[in-house]
Amino acid sequence: MDFNSKTGEADTLASGCAVVAVSSPRRLSAAATRLDKASGGQISALIKQGDIKTDCGKTTLILAPAGNIKAKRILVVGCGEDKTLSPQAFNKLASAAANALQDSGAGDAASWLTEIEVEDRDIAWKAQQLVAASEDAVYRFDELKSDAKPPRHPLRRLSITSASRADGSAIRAGIRAGTAIAHGMNLARTLGNRPGNYCTPSDLADQARALKKTFPSLKVRVLEEKDMEKLGMGALLSVSRGSRQPAKLIVMQYNGGKKNSKPTVLVGKGVTFDSGGISLKPGSAMDEMKFDMCGAASVFGTVSAVAEMKLPVNLVGIVPSTENLPDGLATKPGDIVTSMSGQTIEVLNTDAEGRLILCDALTYAGKFKPDVVIDIATLTGACVVALGKHATGLFSHDQALADALLDAGQSTGDRAWQMPLWDEYDEQLCSNFADMANIGGRDAGSITAACFLSRYTKDYRWAHLDIAGVAWKSGNDKGATGRPVPLLTQYLMAKAK
Ligand code: BES
Ligand code: MN
Ligand code: ZN
Repeated sequence: MDFNSKTGEADTLASGCAVVAVSSPRRLSAAATRLDKASGGQISALIKQGDIKTDCGKTTLILAPAGNIKAKRILVVGCGEDKTLSPQAFNKLASAAANALQDSGAGDAASWLTEIEVEDRDIAWKAQQLVAASEDAVYRFDELKSDAKPPRHPLRRLSITSASRADGSAIRAGIRAGTAIAHGMNLARTLGNRPGNYCTPSDLADQARALKKTFPSLKVRVLEEKDMEKLGMGALLSVSRGSRQPAKLIVMQYNGGKKNSKPTVLVGKGVTFDSGGISLKPGSAMDEMKFDMCGAASVFGTVSAVAEMKLPVNLVGIVPSTENLPDGLATKPGDIVTSMSGQTIEVLNTDAEGRLILCDALTYAGKFKPDVVIDIATLTGACVVALGKHATGLFSHDQALADALLDAGQSTGDRAWQMPLWDEYDEQLCSNFADMANIGGRDAGSITAACFLSRYTKDYRWAHLDIAGVAWKSGNDKGATGRPVPLLTQYLMAKAK
């Protein structure tokens, strides 16, 4: 989709559809008021007779509006009662409007939703969110459907308007960030949605090379199993033993910052299918374990967004990737493996494999002399129990880093919630036979998993994002969400400032 910034009035700007806001009980925005006047009171009459609902997120399409209006349609978007909206409310109505526009038949549209007042948010932010909502509404994953049909009347262009020319550059900045983030999310969603037989560790390595084609400034390196053996990555390799697909450790480097400024390193869990291994998972919804590489996908998406925006930061993306399958050679419960750090691990449950591949990747991350390391993983079912599908679990000993990530989540609506990393939880990992066990018992499963990772991240500032709840949706809209690409990209944008 194309986005641009325009100044003009709602009644005189020609478009396939004018998108305007109304609030309860009968408050029209400035643009809605102009359309109402030019149409001889059509909008206010429709509200009065109950045909237009003004609740937050309700939309009404007026076809062939009355009077002398240059737009072919009007989409009226309800804002509810509040004069100033929360960012969450704005995002909700932005996506309702985007979905309604998709179904409207309009090929282009002009949005005046920038008029809505949002708590502590400027017009650039509104533009960024309108772009994100539109791209989300057009996203389809149909590359494996034999009869995929593109929509007959797709929305191709959205103009984001403002009353004053002065707002134009802010809107354009919002559009630029919004499109880069949306492209990153779309990439993350597509990689996540691909099934295990189309998205193997080798396919992810190819994906990194393809990203380098799009952004030639990237440096890409893929470590093979023999390289991992040389580095002593016994934990990572213990997971791939049961798989016929070779494990890969993918490294992507983007150097947009000053030469000697330390990089931010993102480490994404890339288990392309998690059966549990010998500790085999139960069958129900096991297909969803193709999404167990969504942490990796978010690293690809963020690298893409940052490269598209040409942000002045140094960034390294590291993706340890493997399958987790049962086999005669597979690691067994009770086996003890030696990680790259030298610490030994008793594998009490082969389904706690994410931390095994991440611990070696996190040790490897130290080689880049990082400013900050953030790992992103669909790590624990326990995180879904704790926070549901709404918030990413955030863990860090570094409160300044945690706060920066929480802020980035707030500002994009891709929110995280901090959980504790106390020593009492860490003690649950002790083993009679090795330096630690790979599980910490039933209690506080997402925290003990984070404590495990923490033992490998002593040399730098580190945060862990458990995205098990937010990375994909189940049920009728089953599919990857592209989270937390917005949070990560916003964090890097703030850092670049
Ligand atoms: N990939 C799963 C975590 C997961 C499960 C994410 C369900 C989303 C939905 C991870 O590898 C795993 O299996 N974790 C185990 C850990 C346990 C064995 C300590 C879990 O959460 O059950
Ligand atoms: Mn598992
Ligand atoms: Zn897993």
